Amino acid sequence: MARLTETDWIWHDGGFVAWKDAQVHVLSHSMQFGSSIFEGIRCYKTPNGPAIFRLQDHLRRMVNSCRIYRIELPYTVDQLVAACCELVQRNAVDSCYIRPMVVRGYGAAGMVPFDSPVEVYIPCWPWGAYLGDHALENGVDACVSSWHRVAPNTIPAAAKVAGNYLGGQLIKMEALANGFGEAIALGPGGMLSEGSGQNVFVVQNGTLFTPPIDGTLLTGITRASVLTLARDAGIPVEERPLAREILYMADEVFFSGTASEVTPVRSVDRITVGSGERGPITARLQREYLDLATGVIADRHGWLTQVRAKATAAA
Ligand SMILES: Cc1ncc(COP(=O)(O)O)c(C=O)c1O
Repeated sequence: MARLTETDWIWHDGGFVAWKDAQVHVLSHSMQFGSSIFEGIRCYKTPNGPAIFRLQDHLRRMVNSCRIYRIELPYTVDQLVAACCELVQRNAVDSCYIRPMVVRGYGAAGMVPFDSPVEVYIPCWPWGAYLGDHALENGVDACVSSWHRVAPNTIPAAAKVAGNYLGGQLIKMEALANGFGEAIALGPGGMLSEGSGQNVFVVQNGTLFTPPIDGTLLTGITRASVLTLARDAGIPVEERPLAREILYMADEVFFSGTASEVTPVRSVDRITVGSGERGPITARLQREYLDLATGVIADRHGWLTQVRAKATAAA
């Protein structure tokens, strides 16, 4: 399990507060009703100092999550980009996980949120491999969850909002209780959807498959990056509905996500995936992704925000 590693500062509405002082009231709307919007972003150590991976894309997704929930975000994406860079610089970390949060604070008595102020916090902390130290190389044992993902037009899956993670918690806790490292959930129609906090890919006969954005899963930014890197590499890619059984027949299966990065799946429901080793397409995409994120290869898609340059410009 992963416990938080504290850093010194948390950005809060234009300033910085000490880690321990970033507090909300127990009756804040987000606490009572799960309404906080958030993001999860990785900052990697590169030869040019810390660089944040697809920062603007994550913040744009946060803006869109706010729009869905009728939250007027009082900051522009550019202001939040500068805030994230200053945060990383001020906390003097080489690499970290950044967790912007838009909170509906204290005020509203009931579910209607409009009497609660909107507050923005941005913490960051060092966070290693989400699925365990050896998972990037050896893979993770997964199961298919007995819990399904939400149906389209119930709770919007494209919004990254705290309440959505109740389903994710059930999926993940069940997997852990049954001795698996992660789970893949099906959508309401019984087709593959995503993991508890990551998207899923399957390789069969040299083609890379992933479920489409069908209203049951998060529009993963790592998912989009993997699709781009696969197309760059000339790997055929198909986004289409996938039946559960493809997991048992696949040559390779892997997860993608900011926290999980590109993590191979070694088995599903105790059925070994392929040879059980990290497959060649998974290995290639994982290497490309990590090499690009850590500045080992050129940032040909403009995905990195160099922290020092931005923080200096903002100061
Ligand atoms: C439910 C869910 N699906 C997919 C992902 C992967 O999204 P991303 O690659 O943008 O981190 C995440 C991670 O944030 C997630 O929580």
